Parts: sequence; C-alpha cells; structure tokens
Amino acid sequence: MVSSKEIRKKYLEFFKDRGHAVIPSASLVPENDPTTLFTGSGMQPLLPYLLGEKHPLGNKLANSQKCFRAGDIEEVGDNRHTTFFEMLGNWSLGADSNFKEEQLSLLFEFLTKEIGLDHSRLSVTVFAGDKSTGIPKDEESAVIWKKLFGKDAKVFEYGVEKNWWSRAGAPDNMPAGEPGGPDSEVFYDFGTSHDSRFGKECHPNCDCGRFMEITNSVFMEYQKQDDGSFAKLKQRNVDFGGGLERIVAAANNAPNIYDIDIFQKVISGVLSSAGVIHDSSETIPESNYPLGPIGNNITREESVRAMRIIADHMRATVFLMADGVIPSNADRGYVVRRLIRRATRFADKLGLKPGTLSSLALPVQEHYGELYVELKEHGGEIQEEIAKEEARFRETLERGLKEFGALISLGQSSFTGKNEFNLYQSHGFPKDVMKDLAEERGFVFDEVGFDREFKKHQELSRTAVAGRFQGGLADHSLETTKLHTAHHLLLGALRKVLGEHVHQKGSNITAERLRMDFSHPKKLAADELKKVENLVNEKIREDLEMAREEMSREEATQLGAEMEFGKKYGDTVSVYLARSKEGNVFSKEFCGGPHVENTGELGSFRILKEEAVSSGIRRIRASLQ
Ligand code: ALA
Repeated sequence: MVSSKEIRKKYLEFFKDRGHAVIPSASLVPENDPTTLFTGSGMQPLLPYLLGEKHPLGNKLANSQKCFRAGDIEEVGDNRHTTFFEMLGNWSLGADSNFKEEQLSLLFEFLTKEIGLDHSRLSVTVFAGDKSTGIPKDEESAVIWKKLFGKDAKVFEYGVEKNWWSRAGAPDNMPAGEPGGPDSEVFYDFGTSHDSRFGKECHPNCDCGRFMEITNSVFMEYQKQDDGSFAKLKQRNVDFGGGLERIVAAANNAPNIYDIDIFQKVISGVLSSAGVIHDSSETIPESNYPLGPIGNNITREESVRAMRIIADHMRATVFLMADGVIPSNADRGYVVRRLIRRATRFADKLGLKPGTLSSLALPVQEHYGELYVELKEHGGEIQEEIAKEEARFRETLERGLKEFGALISLGQSSFTGKNEFNLYQSHGFPKDVMKDLAEERGFVFDEVGFDREFKKHQELSRTAVAGRFQGGLADHSLETTKLHTAHHLLLGALRKVLGEHVHQKGSNITAERLRMDFSHPKKLAADELKKVENLVNEKIREDLEMAREEMSREEATQLGAEMEFGKKYGDTVSVYLARSKEGNVFSKEFCGGPHVENTGELGSFRILKEEAVSSGIRRIRASLQ
C-alpha cells in the first residue's frame, strides 16, 4: 500500500523542482476571510493573490491544505466522501497565455509518471461553455488533453454545474467581485461495475462510485461584475486542487478511500476497543466490522457506513479542535458538536463501549503529528473535550428518549413538526440524529414539518429581537456582556466605515457570538469588512470607557444617539457612550446595558460572516477571542 505521506511528499517535491514555492497549510479557521466558517479549499487563504496582490514567495506556489466541507456531512459513508481532507494545491498567479498547456502537462506527468497511474484508467472533463454568461467552451484544454493522452484520450464535456469553479459554486450563485473560471477534472476509473440506481449509463460524473474525481485544475480568469455579467480578471491564474486521500486510493487502485493508511489506523482503533483481533499489516476486511449489540444487529451495509462515519468524523474533529474549535451551540462550535454527536450515534449502532470516541483521537494525532504539530500540541485537551462532549450528549439523549417514551405512551406513532422542534431546541438533537432515533423506534419523522417550525422560529426570533435587546440579553454572563459592548463598537465602526445611513435593524447576542442586522444597500467588500474589524479592535485597544448617562429622550436624540428601529422609548432614557479619556465619543446608543466598564476588557474582535437578510439589510456575525 502506497502511503499518504509518500504521495504528499512526491507531490510537493515534484512542484518544488518545477519552480513552485512550498507554503504551509493555513488554519481550518479562516484568518482573513470573514465570509466563510471553514477553510474549504486551498485557494481560500490565497484569495488576495488570485485577485492581484503580490505573494511574498512569488507567483508559483504549492502546498497541502487542510480543508473542511461541512456541506458534505450527509454524503459521508460512501466510498469517497469525507468532511475533512487534505487538498494538494498548486497555483500560478498572473500566468501567461499558455497557462493551460503548462498546468495540464505538469499534472499529466505527475499522475502518470511520478505516481504511476495507468493512463488508460484516466478520464478528463472540460467546460462545455455557457450561454447565459457567454463564457465559451474550453476547446484549448480538450486539445491539450488529446495531445497528452494520444489516441485513447477520454475527454468529456460538462456545463457550469460540473466544470465551473468558484467558492460560491455556479456563476448564478456568485456574489459580485468573486473570481471563478472553467475547470478541468481528472477521474480515475476503478473498473467496478455500474450501479443502475445512479442512472442508465455510467460516465465520469456518475455517483455510483466507479469513477472518482481526483484532481481539478481551475483556470481562474473571470470575475463577476456588479451587474451580474462576467469580465476577465486582472490576471490569469491556475488554481489546482487534488484530494490527497483520493489520489492515494487511486495510486493503490483501492476503490474505497477508507482502505488507505490513515482511516485504517482509526478503524483499527475501533476494532481494538471492541476486542476484535486483526492483522494490522493488512487492509482490514469489512467483514470484521462489528454488527452492533447482541439482539440489535445492523446489516453489513449499515455497519460499513457507520464505521466510515466514525472514522471521518473523528479525524475531522481532531483537526478542527487542534485549530481551536470547541463544541458549542453556535457556528463552528456547533459543527464540531454535530460531528461528535453523530459519531456517538454510529458508535452505538456498532455496539462500541461508551467513551470509545476519545481514544480514536490518538491514532489521528500520531499519524499526522509530525506535519501538523498542532494535533500533538493539544493532544490531551482534544481527547478530553471529545470525552466531555460524548458524555454531555449521552445525558441529553437520555432525557430526550424519555420524551419519546412519553409520546409513544400517548399512542402517537408519528412526530409533529412541533414535537420535533421542541426536541431540537431543548436537547440540541441535530435533525439527522432525531430522524434516525425516530425511525429506529418505528416513528414517522415529519421533515417538512420540522423545517417549517424551524423557519417560523427564526422569523419569530427576528421580530422578538427589538424587545429582547434592551436589558433582555439571553443571559448576563461576562461573555454576553462583552459581546454586547462589542456590538456597540461594531455599529459605531460600520457607521464610520460605510456611512451614516447604517442603522441597526435587529440584534441577537449569545455567550458565543453577536449577530447584528443593519441597513446597507450592498454586500460588504472584503476590505470594508477588514476596515470595520480593525476599527473595532483599535477601539478595544484604546480602552474606551463605557459611560452610562440618563437624559431626556429629546437630549439623546439631539446628541445623535443610535436608536433601534421600531423600538419605543420612555421620556427618560439611558444612553451608553464609548468615550476616550480625552472625551472623544466613538459610539452612543440608547441602551439599558449591561456593559463592561472599559473596552480593553474585550480581547480580540473578529467578524465571522457577512450576509444578506433581505433587500437593503445585511447581517454580521462576530465573536471575541
Ligand atoms: N479550488 C479548486 C477546488 O477546490 C481547485 O476544487
């Protein structure tokens, strides 16, 4: 079995020898990109350079980037999907006009010569062109591939849904300013038989598992404009990404990525905990996987799926925690919570002992520790956090199951959206876990009903916001109070950076993050977000005093204090001023508190996400660290 370490090394050396500077992987928590929760591709941390900024190490770069795609969580369990993966990347920034030829020839050489993939097993795809954007078919890549492969070239064409790449997906979904371009993928054919449930005929993009996409060369040379059209970017770029785990699977001709070294180590850990003896030098046969507790057996297929989910989710959890994400009820923390809770459910299906999950962190830390030192540095803490979260979930599960029991004894055989939503809200049951629990007990799960309740609740909490804000925060813990003060600084900063038309339209603060809705006609550019974030941090560093003053409503209005839309105020109001020692006022808002005394207590402020709520209203989520 060729190891992942070997392939990663070969890849980086190959590109280094051909003039690429090898750069380290960025964190899974994006540093300068408030628009996404996780780093999901190698290009994300390099966005400024794709847009024209000069990279200090030159215009040819390569790396292996840690990536996490939460959107793939439900797909995990087949032969090729994972949430976390390593993306082997290379970039040519501001490339010249033969960039396609250069990239595809290098890639062909790497795949067929360097790691020795049989080229008769490779198929490639190119962009078929798109009428609505007017972006033409990529004839050039097709010609290059035919030259490289010779007479047995297998070149397929697909449209924007398969052969266009941007962070936001297809051209229609891209916000103005976003770069993207046609791409060309390479697929490895494992020669397994086609499964007709996935369509009449098999082809590279068929989901039956016979073909596996192993690499993607994006020719990033377009940018979406304000009017929705596309223009050429300032510079041509190659943005290449190849899934390390998938390339390793292809190099071993193993149609199942869970057969590669890292997953085998985690699976071996699962089996040891279940007392199954196996030979660790060979690929563990799936027939060795446990089939669940006695009297509650699952099928072989379910057992394989459960094992893959556990292996994927625990590896992803270790990497996310090593980059500082811990389980919570919001944003990134909720994603880790969901991974551990799902893994717990599947561990139970296999009949593993409670508490097994935390022991699976070790094989991951050992396998990657040399390259990704953060995994080892936080070794013990990661294991403890996993154990704690599993235990917390089990308590919740017990309480939730009692409610199930109560419903059953009332003679109910199906859930209503309301029941479901209550379970979700009071016990933090992820929807898929709830659905699974219900089905296990012969209940019908009402998915549409749940989604409806969920939406309704979101709207309610939006309208309840005005009433909730003044002195009505979710709780008065120090975290919430700090975020409340940060909220004032954020509004002040938005008004300074974007203009006086910005007013607060809604707000919600929990112990983990703040959320503010405000009036502004368009999406904030990356540099505007950065300016806002920097300004808030500057005001934190200036250690402004949060001064409370009582005054008449008239006085406050004259002072220009910010009032929340739709809120009624009495004749005497309390106003909070963020004020420097010299008496300069940075922000003033009608507000009942509570606040910290001085902004210096806040730590570091970070914008997590900016998005549209409705026409003319934007939303920012932010946190303090
Ligand atoms: N950015 C490209 C991808 O993620 C290479 O597929």
